[in-house]
Amino acid sequence: MKENSCIRVSNLSKKYSGSDSFALKDVTLEIFNGEIFGLLGPNGAGKTTFFSIVCGLLNATSGNAQIAGYSTDKDIESIKKIIGVVPQDIALYPTLSGRDNLMFIGRMYGLKGKVLKERVQECLSKFGFDKNSNEQVKKYSGGMKRRINLIGGILHEPEILLLDEPTVGMDVQTRTSMMEHLKELNKEKKMTILYTSHYLEQAELFCDRVAIMDQGQILCLGSPVDLIKKENGKDLEDVFLKFTGRKIRD
Ligand SMILES: Nc1ncnc2c1ncn2[C@@H]1O[C@H](COP(=O)(O)OP(=O)(O)O)[C@@H](O)[C@H]1O
Ligand SMILES: [Mg+2]
Repeated sequence: MKENSCIRVSNLSKKYSGSDSFALKDVTLEIFNGEIFGLLGPNGAGKTTFFSIVCGLLNATSGNAQIAGYSTDKDIESIKKIIGVVPQDIALYPTLSGRDNLMFIGRMYGLKGKVLKERVQECLSKFGFDKNSNEQVKKYSGGMKRRINLIGGILHEPEILLLDEPTVGMDVQTRTSMMEHLKELNKEKKMTILYTSHYLEQAELFCDRVAIMDQGQILCLGSPVDLIKKENGKDLEDVFLKFTGRKIRD
């Protein structure tokens, strides 16, 4: 094991009950402290399955996953203290305001009083919520809900942030600014970020390293620049095409 290993996944496989194929097949990878790592692939590739096992929300069929040396199936209480989770499906209370949703989430993470109030305000401002934070979430656009969802995962300043398709439904401008904020957290707070996406272009700019997966398996792993060079492509879309013979949006 490398000393700076943060998330370690060994021979991880998952077959959902009732399904006759594997959603994940023998996935092994390591994510290092302080890096931004992208798990990329088309819909159905197995990204959410991988994500859910790493967060301890789902049991693997075989293999194991560790975060900071803790096993995701035995030490989830220790893991919970150091991670922030932003799931693909948004879980917010529609009749509460964005701010009140965040106050609620913050309390669940153990924040309280003045510290909680200030953290919520600080994050709302940072993510462009100066105006609408007191409106009911049901009036928000999809992108606004996603931003609140994301803030919910970083309020407690976790060491490791796990994001499943955080930018779906966001316009380019919101997406870019969100990525910049995440990059800032990564740089300033040394936050390790694992992020899944089917937007290869965005990941190319954002990630230190990526793994491209399809049909439950890792096709290739490395820095975007190295992968593109190795496959003689012009971008990660080309890399995906080289491995699968098809475009990611097919
Ligand atoms: N709860 C489930 N039960 C059965 N099959 C599932 C379930 N969740 C996902 N799958 C299947 O597992 C595969 C991977 O899905 P998923 O991990 O959601 O992929 P992604 O997040 O990359 O779109 C897909 O074929 C999907 O249909
Ligand atoms: Mg998914």
